[in-house]
Amino acid sequence: MAEQEKKTVLSGIQPSGSPTLGNYVGALKNWKLLQTDDRLCYYCVANLHALTVRQDPADLRRRAGETVALLLACGIDPEKSVLFVQSHVHEHAELNWVLCCNTYMGELSRMTQFKDKSAKHADNINAGLFTYPVLMAGDILLYQSDLVPVGADQKQHIEIARDIAIRFNNAYGETFKIPEGFIPQFGARVMSLQDPSMKMSKSDPNPNGFVAIMDDPSVIMKKFKRAVTDSDTFIAFDPENKPGVSNLLSIYTSFTGLTMDEAVKHFDGLGYGSLKAEVAEAVIAGLEPVQNEYKKILSDKAYLEKIMSDGAEKASAQARKTLRKVYRKVGLA
Ligand code: TYM
Repeated sequence: MAEQEKKTVLSGIQPSGSPTLGNYVGALKNWKLLQTDDRLCYYCVANLHALTVRQDPADLRRRAGETVALLLACGIDPEKSVLFVQSHVHEHAELNWVLCCNTYMGELSRMTQFKDKSAKHADNINAGLFTYPVLMAGDILLYQSDLVPVGADQKQHIEIARDIAIRFNNAYGETFKIPEGFIPQFGARVMSLQDPSMKMSKSDPNPNGFVAIMDDPSVIMKKFKRAVTDSDTFIAFDPENKPGVSNLLSIYTSFTGLTMDEAVKHFDGLGYGSLKAEVAEAVIAGLEPVQNEYKKILSDKAYLEKIMSDGAEKASAQARKTLRKVYRKVGLA
């Protein structure tokens, strides 16, 4: 298929903390599946975004490479997809400024993630935290993306990216493609194992709340065995009344490929103990190849460097084109 007929996919992940089962089920697993011949995928390690929270410089630098290794281990194929680190493509920061000048304070102050993060980091409510969705809109729009695979927590950010693109096109003439979000039916919001009313998050201070992709099998089993369920005794998918059990079922379907009906039928008559153990076993089996591959890739520093520099070069070629167009439209070039 000719390059220009392909649909463009773009997504990103921050290189902060230990990536979790939430990242895997809500996003990374789908990134792999979207790599078909009729699509060109760009996957980026969003290290500029990570700066909105204070970072240790050496850790941030190291984690960019580790996250690239993780994406490779999750099945991102550098022959098919463009895998790159955001800060290696300077057009992201440049487009960000132009888009900031076309985004309203009012729309940014409605972002729930800004409200949550400023409550969490009350001592560091920086301007970057506020304009974070504009940087993300730039990531998406630079590559003229059609599709953005993300978990449900990023839905509002996709909507604002669309709004910014539509506004820009109306003001300056056709410049950006209007992207669509791609959010899975189940697993778009993997919940904490300790408090199923909260999203599973790598920044959870309670390590039993999240499963890290790199957790040892024995740790994964222990965390699932401790998962909070409810005081009923039957297994049903009912996120409102049985959020803990429904969360486990969603994870199970994601790892086994069963439909929700098939999964519920499978556990018919069984207790919560069996559910927890079987979910843990499915997760352990599904993550094992990712864990093994990650260790292998990480030990080959030269390979990793090459992937990053090739990725940056390919991403820059497209990013440069869009930025040049934007600069011409607004009168900067
Ligand atoms: P980040 O790094 O927080 O998460 C990466 C991806 O994982 C998804 N995710 C989840 N999905 C289901 N359940 C969960 N508990 C869960 N936790 C995280 C997120 O929805 C996301 O898809 N701003 C983005 C990174 C980014 C980006 C982009 C995404 C930067 N530029 C451009 C898309 C397009 C973020 O912080 O994701």
